[in-house]
Amino acid sequence: MSSHPSPDDENIIDIKDFSFLDQTLRPSRFDDYIGQETIKKNLKILLQAAKERAHPPEHVLFYGPPGLGKTTLAHLIANEMGCQVKSTSGPAIEKVGDLASILTNLSPGDVLFIDEIHRLNKIIEEVLYPAMESGVLDIIIGKGPSARTIQLDLPPFTMIAATTRVALISSPLRSRFSGGTFRLEFYTEDEIEKIVKRSAGILGIALSDDAAREIARRSRATPRTANYLLKRARDFAQVHKGDLSLKFVADALALLEIDEIGLTALDRKILEVIIEKFGGGPVGLSTIAAALSEEVATIEEVNEPYLMQLGLLERTPRGRVATPRAYEHLGFDMPEDRQERLL
Ligand code: ADE
Repeated sequence: MSSHPSPDDENIIDIKDFSFLDQTLRPSRFDDYIGQETIKKNLKILLQAAKERAHPPEHVLFYGPPGLGKTTLAHLIANEMGCQVKSTSGPAIEKVGDLASILTNLSPGDVLFIDEIHRLNKIIEEVLYPAMESGVLDIIIGKGPSARTIQLDLPPFTMIAATTRVALISSPLRSRFSGGTFRLEFYTEDEIEKIVKRSAGILGIALSDDAAREIARRSRATPRTANYLLKRARDFAQVHKGDLSLKFVADALALLEIDEIGLTALDRKILEVIIEKFGGGPVGLSTIAAALSEEVATIEEVNEPYLMQLGLLERTPRGRVATPRAYEHLGFDMPEDRQERLL
C-alpha cells in the first residue's frame, strides 16, 4: 500500500498482503500443485537426478508477478527432497555477518530460500558467489594491513531465490543459479477453477461450479488472489446466511470493488489517470504513481503485469499507454488523435 494513501484508497486491495493464506492452502507435493506444467517437468528431473546422485539439487531462481507460487515451489522442492527450508529475504540480510550466520547454520541438504533477491545489497552478493559456486564462505578478519581472510566450508545446500524483478538481478548472480531460472506464468481460468475447488475442499466450503468459475474469472489469473476471493465470498455468504452461490460471489466481489475481469479499484484508477489526465499516454510510470499517491514498485510489480496480460496497458520507450481495450472496458471514448499522439 502507499505510504500516503488518499482518503478514498481504503478499499484498494494490496495483493502482496495475502501471503498468510498460503500456509494452509499451499500444495506440498507436485501431484497437488496445479499449473506451471513446464516448470514442474523441469523440476521433477532436477530433483530426481539429485536424489539419484545423493546430492542437493543445484540452485534455482523463480521470477514472475506476486502470488503465482514462487514460495510454494521452494517449499515443495524441500518437501520432495525431504529437507528443511530456512527462509529469509534480500532486504532482511543487512550485513555480511547476517549472511554468514545464515549460511553457517544450515544443515546438510537444507534449502535456503531468499525472497526478493533483487533487493540484496551488492557487498552481500559478492559473498554469496563463492558460497553458491564452491560451498565456501570467505570471511575477512581485521582491518588494514593485518587483515586476513579465512575460508569456511559450508554444508551442501540448495539456494532457491525468488523475485518479481528479474531485470534487477546482476548477470554474475543470475549465472550462479545453475539448476535453472524459471519464469512463472499467469494461470488459465481452468487451472484457477481447479485451485479454487481444491482450496474450498480443504477449507470445508461448499461451492457451486458456477461460483468457482466466477471466482476464477475475476482472480487476476493468480492463485493467491483466487484463495483470497474465495475466503471473502465465504464470509459474505456466512453473514448473509446463504450458500456460496454465484449471486453471493458476485455481491461479495462487487463490495470489494473487483470488476468482472478481475480489476481492482487501483487497477482501474491507473488506467483512468492515464486516459483522463494524460490523454491516454505515453506517460512515465513515476508520473502515474505521483498522480495516484502510490508507490512506483507497487504499480510496476503488482498492477502492470496483469493489465498488460489483459492487453489494457502497453509499455513503450516513451511511457505507459492505455490501449483501445482499456477505453472500451472503462467506457471512455477514444480521442480522434490517439494514433498521432503515439507516433
Ligand atoms: N494453491 C495456491 N497455488 C496453488 C497451485 N498452483 N496448485 C494448487 N493449489 C494452490
